[in-house]
Amino acid sequence: MATSHTSRFLKVLSGKPATPPPLWMMRQAGRHLPEYLELRAQAKDFLDFCYSPSMAAEATLQPIRRYDMDAAILFADILLILDAMGLEVRFEKGVGPIVERVEQASDLNRASVETAVQRLSPVYETVDRVREKLDEDKALIGFCGAPWTVALYAIEGRGGTDKSSARGWAYSKPDLLNQLLDQLIEISAHYLASQVKAGADALMIFESWAEGLPSDLFQTLVIDPNAKLVKRLRELGVTVPIIGFPRGAATMIGSYADQVPVNGIGLDTAIDPKHVLRAVPETMAVQGHLDPILLIEGGPAMEKRVREILEAYRGRTHIFNLGHGVRPETPIKNVERVVEIVREGA
Ligand code: CP3
Repeated sequence: MATSHTSRFLKVLSGKPATPPPLWMMRQAGRHLPEYLELRAQAKDFLDFCYSPSMAAEATLQPIRRYDMDAAILFADILLILDAMGLEVRFEKGVGPIVERVEQASDLNRASVETAVQRLSPVYETVDRVREKLDEDKALIGFCGAPWTVALYAIEGRGGTDKSSARGWAYSKPDLLNQLLDQLIEISAHYLASQVKAGADALMIFESWAEGLPSDLFQTLVIDPNAKLVKRLRELGVTVPIIGFPRGAATMIGSYADQVPVNGIGLDTAIDPKHVLRAVPETMAVQGHLDPILLIEGGPAMEKRVREILEAYRGRTHIFNLGHGVRPETPIKNVERVVEIVREGA
């Protein structure tokens, strides 16, 4: 079980501000690190990498060694769950993930909840190995994709689309869509509970594709399923803090914060700190939201923005992070500089 009593990251999630704020970065592991590329070359493919506890544990720890981040995030992917459900998932170089599309109810019944959760056992083994090696003052974050975001990949077959098929389902096949969302909620709840049992200190739910939904669909596809997932986790006895990340929520962020009982909320690049301060209750920690493109560019513009973000949330529970993941072309020295500025508390 989790042992990191001294973690500043967990302190903030328990409602106590810290100066300087704890920091980590989404996609801090991965292709911008030469040590990751070297390790990655040893795997047959990306799925094989994610299902190899020794490699996945090493990838999780690499950014902690290099940057001394306050939290490690489990190295895995939000799409493993679809693979575990029996849908074919491939990661193609230069294209990204390709998923076998769900077309009818029978496609949802290829694996029972128990079987799917069991197939993800290598992930729990990775968590166990990482927690063993991680210092007490570092937290380990487990994660999954939020139901709508994962459903979207299963309906569209890939990410980065205009989401019209998945959104269309909300109007033309609401029963099938709800069945898919409910199944994802149940499997995700057990998947995350198993990660916590293996040693995860906190959880994050990535709703990467919340952007552009009409407010009624934002309610039924994002807020309701996220709230159900959090409730289910608590029913299963999970007590660790949970961070929700409704990326692209825009003006709906307040409704999300009011209705999804998470301990922290991820902020994307677009949201204005002034709006955040008005819309997110003091009791909920905020995490974000430096533009990853600025992290590529670096220099005075980046430094200024880092300081503005620190200033905006001074005295409030805040975890410094990006508004989205580190891009592969990010120079290491820029990440180092951000860590330095945040730690100066400047
Ligand atoms: O450092 C970390 O953040 C830990 C690991 C992690 C990965 N994916 C590794 C990965 C996490 C937390 C994710 C989450 C994830 N995966 C999300 C949610 C966050 C977000 O970015 O919005 C989403 C939407 C995915 C789906 C996914 N996986 C995409 C779109 C891609 C292709 C784009 C890309 O960056 O290549 C992946 C592949 C992927 N997941 C890689 C990594 C390191 C690259 C694969 C490789 O190394 O070849």
